[in-house]
Amino acid sequence: MDYSSFFTRATDQLRAERRYRVFAELERDAERFPRALRRRGEDANAEKQPVVVWCPNDYLGMGRHPEVIAAMQEAAARYGAGAGGTRNISGNSSALVALEGELADLHAKPAALVFTSGWISNLAAISTIASLLPDCLILSDASNHNSMIEGVKRSHCEKQIFRHNDVAHLETLLRARRPGRPTLIVFESLYSMDGDIAPIEAIVALAEKYGALTYLDEVHAVGLYGPRGAGVAERDGVMARIDIIEGTLAKGFGTLGGYVAASAAIVDAIRSCAPAFIFTTALPPAVAAAALASVRLVKGAGAARASHQRQVTKVKHALAQAGIPVLANVSHIVPVMIGDAELCKAASDRLLERHGIYIQPINYPTVARGTERLRITPTPFHDDDLIAELVIALRETWEALDLHLTPGALASDLATYLASHAAKRRVASAT
Ligand SMILES: Cc1ncc(COP(=O)(O)O)c(C=O)c1O
Repeated sequence: MDYSSFFTRATDQLRAERRYRVFAELERDAERFPRALRRRGEDANAEKQPVVVWCPNDYLGMGRHPEVIAAMQEAAARYGAGAGGTRNISGNSSALVALEGELADLHAKPAALVFTSGWISNLAAISTIASLLPDCLILSDASNHNSMIEGVKRSHCEKQIFRHNDVAHLETLLRARRPGRPTLIVFESLYSMDGDIAPIEAIVALAEKYGALTYLDEVHAVGLYGPRGAGVAERDGVMARIDIIEGTLAKGFGTLGGYVAASAAIVDAIRSCAPAFIFTTALPPAVAAAALASVRLVKGAGAARASHQRQVTKVKHALAQAGIPVLANVSHIVPVMIGDAELCKAASDRLLERHGIYIQPINYPTVARGTERLRITPTPFHDDDLIAELVIALRETWEALDLHLTPGALASDLATYLASHAAKRRVASAT
């Protein structure tokens, strides 16, 4: 049998649907974040192209923080590169124990449990919690991330999907279920593609009214929102009313790993019963030490959070002036809408080749067909000069590819923006 034809048929199909993924080869530059070097083609000796990365999920640049790197280096030198086995076999490293204590404190919960990624934490926690509840009904937001969907599937419990962020629909489903039936509501605080935010308080109020448990994914919010960076629930004053909070160490905290924070009973049950926790090698101590250093720093990084939001607002404002269509939201995600897979890829390619700007195209199935986009995520390190370069590059790309400009945006607005930016630079360099 020609086994390989099955595999090439699968990838040919993706190509035919224009959603075959091509990854850029990039070396991030820790000293010059958000800059990177890109290798072009196959030639290892060819000169690498300097690029600016405009789509990092390392939202605060913590992956390059000298204290985070030092913590990782020191732990690797002392404990070695790997974890040595599963936690069952090799025990808990002290760095992991300290990290879990720090995360429990961050979310003001009695306990926390760390996994090898955010994806695994959702799979393990949702499936275990739901499967331990008798005849559990899962109510899941329609826009939930793949890892949550996989967790729901793996629980083998009945699920019902409520319309995205639709509290009235959620209440209809809660009211229709058998009274007293164990119920788990799973949702995200900040949806990473549109950048919209859940009505957490209203969902929690419904959960309390109908006696349901709440499971909140704060992956794109931890580090960034709330007085100590615990997420949107902390910012909105409802964190204590959420039963299980899930987060990642790979985005706002800039390292790797995922976690849940909850009651001691829930955390102990996941630790004891989840195969995706039990039967896999633990996070290496060096990674745990880096994450620990990062979480501690980020708790006190109110100024970085403010600077992050400031740069995001500047980007949104500058793009609006330049007529580049941005999906409106109140978060740090800047979705630049294109609405066509091929054009989205062409725009991304042109930005990279011509302007040294790396923004990966977002196509189906990550987003619905017809809503393809460039997802821009400014950090505090994307300064005003980089923003001006981005705006010029996007505008050139939009004109070259004849993409839709927002009605009412005038070329003169762009000229005004660039002139005022140039004036500010002159003043800054003169003082
Ligand atoms: C909402 C959400 N949850 C979980 C994850 C998985 O997190 P990680 O990248 O740490 O595996 C992602 C990844 O982007 C995500 O968007």
